[in-house]
Amino acid sequence: MKSIEELCKELENIPYMRYRQAEIIKSIIVENNFRNAIEVGFYHGKSSILIASIFEEIGEGHLTTFDLEIAREKDPNIIQLLNSYNLSHRVTPVFCKRSYTWELAKIIKDTKEPVFDFCYLDGAHTWDNTGFGFFLIDLLLKPGGIIIFDDLNWTINKSPAYKKALSEGKDPYAQYSEDEKNTPAVRMVVEELVPMRNYECFEIKEVNWGISVKMKYDATRN
Ligand SMILES: C[S@@+](CC[C@H](N)C(=O)[O-])C[C@H]1O[C@@H](n2cnc3c(N)ncnc32)[C@H](O)[C@@H]1O
Repeated sequence: MKSIEELCKELENIPYMRYRQAEIIKSIIVENNFRNAIEVGFYHGKSSILIASIFEEIGEGHLTTFDLEIAREKDPNIIQLLNSYNLSHRVTPVFCKRSYTWELAKIIKDTKEPVFDFCYLDGAHTWDNTGFGFFLIDLLLKPGGIIIFDDLNWTINKSPAYKKALSEGKDPYAQYSEDEKNTPAVRMVVEELVPMRNYECFEIKEVNWGISVKMKYDATRN
């Protein structure tokens, strides 16, 4: 079985997760005995492989991960990566027609109580997607669970993908105001919404992450 360091070296040409990020996730999973994780946004599946390999090393644990149907077209895609590293048994990839928020709705409907203890949220970074997604994930997250919000400082206007789209004459965010396009929406969710749901939040600047810990005692109710 390969270590996260070896995997990061072998997958260095595949975006996005970096070794330092995987190292932090490993210490969070190991220190908290987390065994049932959820991830939003797998892209090629690099972060999923790394999380799966942490569970493989522990000997138990599972990741349910979401992306859009277009992620099937990545080369390599998550299915190929999972097969080549013999990690398919550790991961359930869900390819969504429109958004992970609809897939989460189905899990919420079928689940009587919170089931996940860890979430890596690295999907669409807009206010609507991250804010609504957070409330859904919160319903599925056990007390003591942790959500990592990636790309705390992301804005539409600073996004390389958005700049590329504009240079090609397309504007996928045409309906957004300049105010919204210049606001780091993930940060706004972490600073304005998450603490209201009984989480303690802190930032890890070196990786541009917000870490939110769901308190076991609900201080928002009195
Ligand atoms: C930055 S990439 C994820 C990278 C991956 N976590 C890693 O580190 O290797 C973000 C992904 O989120 C996906 N995404 C964006 N909006 C989404 C949505 N509403 N539902 C599901 N996936 C979404 C995109 O298709 C993209 O593949």
